[in-house]
Amino acid sequence: MPQATKPHLENLRKYSPGKPIEELRRELGVDRISKLASNENPIGPSPLALAAVRACLDDVHRYPDAAQYEVKSAICDVFGAAPENVVVGNGSDELIHYLGVAFLSPGDEVVVGSPSFIQYTAAAILNQADIKSVPLDPSERMDLEAMAAACSDRTRLVWVANPNNPTGTIVMREEFDRFLDSVPRTATVVLDEAYFDFARDEAIPDSLELVKAGRNIIGLRTLSKSYGLAGLRIGFAFLPPETADVIERMREPFNVNLLAQRAAAAALYDREHLENTLHHNRKSLERISRAVSSCGGKPTKSFANFVWAEFPFDTKPLFDALLRQGVIVRTGDIFGRPTCLRISAGTDDEMEHFEASLPKAVEMLNP
Ligand SMILES: Cc1ncc(COP(=O)(O)O)c(C=O)c1O
Repeated sequence: MPQATKPHLENLRKYSPGKPIEELRRELGVDRISKLASNENPIGPSPLALAAVRACLDDVHRYPDAAQYEVKSAICDVFGAAPENVVVGNGSDELIHYLGVAFLSPGDEVVVGSPSFIQYTAAAILNQADIKSVPLDPSERMDLEAMAAACSDRTRLVWVANPNNPTGTIVMREEFDRFLDSVPRTATVVLDEAYFDFARDEAIPDSLELVKAGRNIIGLRTLSKSYGLAGLRIGFAFLPPETADVIERMREPFNVNLLAQRAAAAALYDREHLENTLHHNRKSLERISRAVSSCGGKPTKSFANFVWAEFPFDTKPLFDALLRQGVIVRTGDIFGRPTCLRISAGTDDEMEHFEASLPKAVEMLNP
């Protein structure tokens, strides 16, 4: 018998990813598959990023730059950040993990919105912190007042995803400022801006501005969404220099691989690709919302690259019926909301596939 691991690790649930395309092909033998399940960038990576990856393929026998000089410089240049305010991770997932390890001890508390991104609770469980889940408000937005009220002198981290995953809703700058004023000084607010670019035209808070203003806040960004580099794994944090210094010393020296560093440094400068992504995304969100509405569902207005939709029934059979037609979405049950679906923006072809499949899938449920 192997030695037992720490008992509290039994509480961790395995992350449930969107169903992989190849798995569905093997299981159902369907040819046309549209994966609308993981909030990826449907138009793909920037050509500049691809060229940068190709140009360094012959160097993969070397370790990547442990100081992450090139990519950090690009982040500082593009966003106007100081290097001491930036940490780069193997996806923002890794940074969430580091923040948990850095801030949480057994018996500490974290405050999260519910439903929201699942990895915040994983970081709490891993570090034996207690989780206070605060339901979203009736319009599926983070209830910042209730979250501030849920804080105690044991609260160390408060997680706000803006836009929120899975609902795509946002909180505005003014309400967020009031919230920051009402959270206890002993708690750090993490503003997860994985979908920031999709909502950039709204009056939402900007973590970098707040970090620069000396607020007690950490911002998280990723290149997995608007920059289309999910498969390479790279994200970054804006944070106060003291915290950045701790994470820099904690992190694995080569946490971000060579291809990811080079690709990110190039992708950040490809503003045309970003604009194309945002333009395409707006069209796809409209198409998803329209298709959902015409099938009796209620789409939530999205400021991200996916749509959260509620139906007047349990959506697991609908999810299965869509799957049989080759369309992969996410059921709400993994977020504790069994009557919902989350549908990611796709290519024009994937949107057509979804538009054609949804009415058929609903029909299959109510013949
Ligand atoms: C709100 C939120 N934060 C963080 C992440 C993780 O992103 P990354 O690919 O950078 O690890 C995701 C991914 O879906 C997300 O939805």
